[in-house]
Amino acid sequence: METPAYRYNLGLLRQTLDVAIAESSPYGYNLHYAVKANSNPRILETIAQSGIGADCVSGNEVQAALDAGFAAGRIVFAGVGKTNAEIELAIVKGIQCIHVESFEELLVIDELSATKRKVTPVALRLNPNLDAGTHKYITTGTSQNKFGFSNEELEEAIRVLPTLNGVKLIGFHFHIGSQILDFTKFTQLAQFANGVYQRFSNLMLTYINLGGGLGIDYENPLENPIPNFSEYFGTFATNLNVGNEVSVHFEPGRSLVGQCGELLTRVLYIKRGEDRSFAVVDAGMNNLIRPALYQAKHSIYCVSPLVDQRDTYDVVGPICESSDVFGTEIELPKLMRGDLLAIRSAGAYGESMSSRYNLRNVTPSFFTTGSEAKLEMVVEE
Ligand code: LLP
Repeated sequence: METPAYRYNLGLLRQTLDVAIAESSPYGYNLHYAVKANSNPRILETIAQSGIGADCVSGNEVQAALDAGFAAGRIVFAGVGKTNAEIELAIVKGIQCIHVESFEELLVIDELSATKRKVTPVALRLNPNLDAGTHKYITTGTSQNKFGFSNEELEEAIRVLPTLNGVKLIGFHFHIGSQILDFTKFTQLAQFANGVYQRFSNLMLTYINLGGGLGIDYENPLENPIPNFSEYFGTFATNLNVGNEVSVHFEPGRSLVGQCGELLTRVLYIKRGEDRSFAVVDAGMNNLIRPALYQAKHSIYCVSPLVDQRDTYDVVGPICESSDVFGTEIELPKLMRGDLLAIRSAGAYGESMSSRYNLRNVTPSFFTTGSEAKLEMVVEE
């Protein structure tokens, strides 16, 4: 088997989708998979088959979602820096809604839509100034962050919107951050949204999008392969009160795909350092950047241990940067050159953030439907 490679368990992905849909549908909630988490075509097709929508942040993501079979009417498009070409694609394809991030962008969407004699449904992204308490690089909802309308621009937009013929305001969009495990943050988000919908009750809004953000268990992925969707949606059902005519939308990314993927890598060398042993593996930060960029901890295991003896290693990649470390002081079976390791919970923001840094190969991917034990045998084409 070629390594490094992403290995996805499509069985777990389908199960996760089933649970997310079962826990959200009693409330009539609508889901849009955040394509940025993993845009592997096979993953996208599997998710599209479940019938949920897509949340995209580039024209290429919109196109990839359409190619994978997502219905245009269930695609939403966000991002602070949409180009004219990307906006035009969204207009032409007739997607459900564009999430607008600034006053100037609103005017551009209006102009491009009017030129095409279209009326584009838009939702304004608001920033609740709520600190999600997650890593600072994935906190998006504070006033220091670049996302969403400021109060001043919002007032201006509300004033001008009735004069714009190319856009129709259908509601508001929020996303406060990612890998959130403190559910009180979602309660606070719901309460903030309630205030906004109360304030703008005269606008006859029909849509609200509360973003993504539900975290996964990186420490105990085997015990918790599926996130707590019941508590997540239940928190909104209890706290959200924006009116019955408003359809409620979410954009889960990590929570749907995070646990269904792992990065397989082989040990190239065992190296005795001054005060530690290094397991030098053939995967690097170009294949999975999360540990280097966010100090993220992914659990690592040896796929086919040959010995009972255990040892402690710093698991490092081949890239010429000291941040190219997957874990320090990791206890593993005593390793040898050629051993196969797997880095768990790498289904979200793994392959999609991979690069060819150091001119390394594109990371290949494999699909299984079964358990880890069958890894070497069950490779579904
Ligand atoms: N909606 C919007 C507007 C977003 O910006 C994001 C993620 C999502 C939905 C999906 O959030 P999720 O459900 O996956 O938390 N690369 C980082 C995460 C970046 C998240 C960016 N926005 C990481 O590896 O942790």
